[in-house]
Amino acid sequence: MKFRRSYKRLLTILLLFTATGITLAAAPTEHGELSSDIFIDNTKCEQCHAIIHYQWRGTMHYNAYEDPFYQKEFIEASNDTSGIVDTFCSRCHTPIGIVSGEIPPIDGSQLSDIARQGVQCDFCHVISASNGTGNAPFIVSPGKTKWGPFNDSKSAYHESEYLELYTRSEYCGMCHNVIHPLNGLVIDDTYTTWKEGAYAEEGVVCQDCHMTPGITQFEANPGRAGSGAKKREHISTHDIVGGNAFVTKILGEEKYSEMAVERLEKAATLSLDAPEIAQRGENVSLTISITNSGAGHKIPTGVSEIRQMWLAVNVKDRNGKELYNTGEIDDDGTVVNATKMYNTILGDSHGQSTLSFWLAESILEDNRIPPKGTVTEKHAFEIPVDVAYPLKVEATLKYRSAPQETINYLFGDNVYEVPVINMTIVSSSIYENEGEATEVPSTPGITALGSITFVICAAYCIRRRKI
Ligand code: HEC
Ligand code: HEC
Ligand code: HEC
Ligand code: HEC
Ligand code: HEC
Repeated sequence: MKFRRSYKRLLTILLLFTATGITLAAAPTEHGELSSDIFIDNTKCEQCHAIIHYQWRGTMHYNAYEDPFYQKEFIEASNDTSGIVDTFCSRCHTPIGIVSGEIPPIDGSQLSDIARQGVQCDFCHVISASNGTGNAPFIVSPGKTKWGPFNDSKSAYHESEYLELYTRSEYCGMCHNVIHPLNGLVIDDTYTTWKEGAYAEEGVVCQDCHMTPGITQFEANPGRAGSGAKKREHISTHDIVGGNAFVTKILGEEKYSEMAVERLEKAATLSLDAPEIAQRGENVSLTISITNSGAGHKIPTGVSEIRQMWLAVNVKDRNGKELYNTGEIDDDGTVVNATKMYNTILGDSHGQSTLSFWLAESILEDNRIPPKGTVTEKHAFEIPVDVAYPLKVEATLKYRSAPQETINYLFGDNVYEVPVINMTIVSSSIYENEGEATEVPSTPGITALGSITFVICAAYCIRRRKI
């Protein structure tokens, strides 16, 4: 068995060299080369890989084609380019639809059920080689063999083959780098910003954060990969989640919407530099630093011209009177007075900013925060004479999957409200006089009661975890 495998591999390598003379594996699977019938429905995989299936079903990979936001933008893109980008967009959003030639037409009338399953089990696991990263240069060999991360895996249903690619960022980088097909502009550079960042150097890959429970680092998930399989120290989780708490919600995938919020909450940290004491009439400066402490790529990433991340800064006095306010959202859903929008701004052929990335020809601005990078914002306000001390300063890093007006334009007014997620919050107080700042209002009795409550809670939690 072992001999046969290595023999097969040797043969492939030999063929490669003789066929191409260079190290390129093969031509990427072309449009319409295969029939969709050779791909296996996810319900078959579910029979033995129930947990993995449960984790994947409902994610944005599962919904990559049905995603209503994608659908609307796809039609726009097709109309704007007289259909030039039809197969381009579909190659990542319905890869089976492309390799089987079921797209075009773009209305989906020829699309099989299996192609509608988006980025699906069998598709991902019959990727047998890749021609690099960006614009989906996958080579697929559908059939009996499933490729994966194990070199000792056995299944009664299929052959298993180890391919190192599955354990590397280059696997994800096939689709998570998008280059404009006509002018070569890099539109989505998730893979590149990872590759150029601190995590690549440390050997932390996409899978460590997105396919383990760790979110910001590798965390082992012991278990069995399939029914009857042996116990392993780590099985990768397939609930691959990013920051999309919006479309997951529209699709009724509450679990993934909540997971996206949790992920966003771990992506960044804030620090606030404000005076402890300041007088009426005084001009106060605030410095707020935002650090991308948890993401392996720039934040935001992906379709980062559409995503929005900004800082809301708010100062109130003791009675709740507002003294300073930026980055709030008005009744129309527009972000008001944010100092900066942390995303990319793409330019069209006239140098005007555009969210229609298929029309982009240049990058006008890139205001995103690199992995482990920090940016700072300065704010200032004057303390009015009639305030009630202490003043409360609060800075909140906010994230939204798309501007409200874009969603209104695509779906109609008042159809979907794009949720605004508070990624992280920092606050401090400003006092009038020295000494007030250190005065902690606490009574020994309350502290003792607090400790008792804590002990009871802790005991309860420990018991629960044992069950
Ligand atoms: C986006 C592509 C993608 C999709 C979709 C996907 N997988 Fe995976 N799968 C991977 C990668 C990558 C790994 C290896 C991760 C690692 O070890 O670092 C993997 C690992 C596995 C493994 C080995 C055990 C483990 O979890 O480590 C099994 C079994 C598996 N997948 C089955 C499935 C099934 C069944 C489905 C559908 C319910 C599925 N996969 C969907 C990419 C995918
Ligand atoms: C009859 C049960 C069964 C069915 C059906 C099944 N598998 Fe598996 N599969 C297994 C078992 C058992 C393993 C071994 C797991 C291990 O080694 O820990 C496995 C392993 C794998 C691996 C790991 C391969 C490697 O070498 O890393 C992948 C990937 C995989 N299956 C994908 C799939 C996909 C995709 C489907 C659906 C098309 C599927 N399986 C259907 C039982 C099954
Ligand atoms: C075959 C192409 C393909 C491969 C391979 C692939 N992805 Fe994706 N991925 C997509 C597409 C397309 C979407 C977007 C679906 C949508 O939003 O409509 C997506 C969505 C995601 C999201 C959700 C983004 C959000 O905003 O919430 C994450 C996270 C993600 N992928 C991570 C990964 C990781 C990690 C890997 C490698 C293990 C990987 N992907 C491999 C195509 C792919
Ligand atoms: C150190 C942990 C870490 C690594 C490594 C990492 N990510 Fe992420 N990823 C995150 C966190 C945290 C977020 C949430 C913040 C955000 O949305 O930008 C995220 C978000 C995303 C999103 C959603 C972006 C958006 O805002 O729409 C995608 C897509 C994604 N990651 C893909 C990848 C890919 C592909 C790789 C490898 C090239 C990768 N990630 C490596 C932690 C990581
Ligand atoms: C090389 C692969 C690839 C190609 C080609 C591609 N996309 Fe995507 N698309 C992705 C990935 C990966 C994501 C997820 C990134 C993120 O979450 O920000 C995505 C996300 C999106 C989203 C955001 C969806 C959401 O739910 O928030 C839209 C809209 C979209 N793509 C439209 C298009 C259109 C239109 C085209 C063609 C002009 C296209 N894509 C071409 C890979 C691709």
